[in-house]
Amino acid sequence: MKKRSRKRIVTVTYGKVSYLDSPKRVTFAELLGTGEYKGRGHFPISAFAKREDRRSAYIRESGRATFRGRYPWHNTFLGDNASGIRTFADIGPGLPGGAPTTVEAREILPQTTKVMAVDIVGNFDNPDLRGRGIKMLKHSIVDGQLPEPVDAIRFAQVSRYLTGYERRRALRNIHSSLPEGGFLMSDNHIYQKTKRGFELIALQGVHWI
Ligand SMILES: C[S@@+](CC[C@H](N)C(=O)[O-])C[C@H]1O[C@@H](n2cnc3c(N)ncnc32)[C@H](O)[C@@H]1O
Repeated sequence: MKKRSRKRIVTVTYGKVSYLDSPKRVTFAELLGTGEYKGRGHFPISAFAKREDRRSAYIRESGRATFRGRYPWHNTFLGDNASGIRTFADIGPGLPGGAPTTVEAREILPQTTKVMAVDIVGNFDNPDLRGRGIKMLKHSIVDGQLPEPVDAIRFAQVSRYLTGYERRRALRNIHSSLPEGGFLMSDNHIYQKTKRGFELIALQGVHWI
């Protein structure tokens, strides 16, 4: 007799943050193994490194692949935790596409919070972003930590463009750029830096029925 498969309905509540009752410690290896960091890199930039013109054209295209409303739950999280975030860095926000998710974060966070759009391509003197009080910084997170400490970092949809080696370096540099208690926000997970590494503290609101 054929086995009946159990039905599973999943509802994703956009914008909702599910905080873990007890934070879960994650090692770097585990962090590299979670959804966002898994795999060998779909489009490793190094594959394009031989021809600098092709490489930058490729990254420029990836920089347009972003949109407003992509991370509503990040906005909720930033709003909930605004008092502890004096500096926020969006790493790889798609500067060629006007960094729309950074603009949303800027709208949520108080004006006293410094908001940075950190990218390797794009217009680093974008008048719209400057007018909104967003600092633009040209920096590759693979090559080094941020020039100043920040309280929260978003690193979403960037690692897929990196090789495994580049990803590990990026993660080390992100870790060094955060103080203890600082947040690392990826597509579906939010981590907090502790003495011993990172702890998973929140997930995008997902309900299994
Ligand atoms: C697909 S966009 C992601 C945009 C946005 N974070 C989002 O999730 O909608 C990838 C961005 O990562 C940037 N990027 C790639 N390698 C980087 C690096 N080593 N350091 C900083 N940014 C990088 C690209 O230039 C591009 O703007």
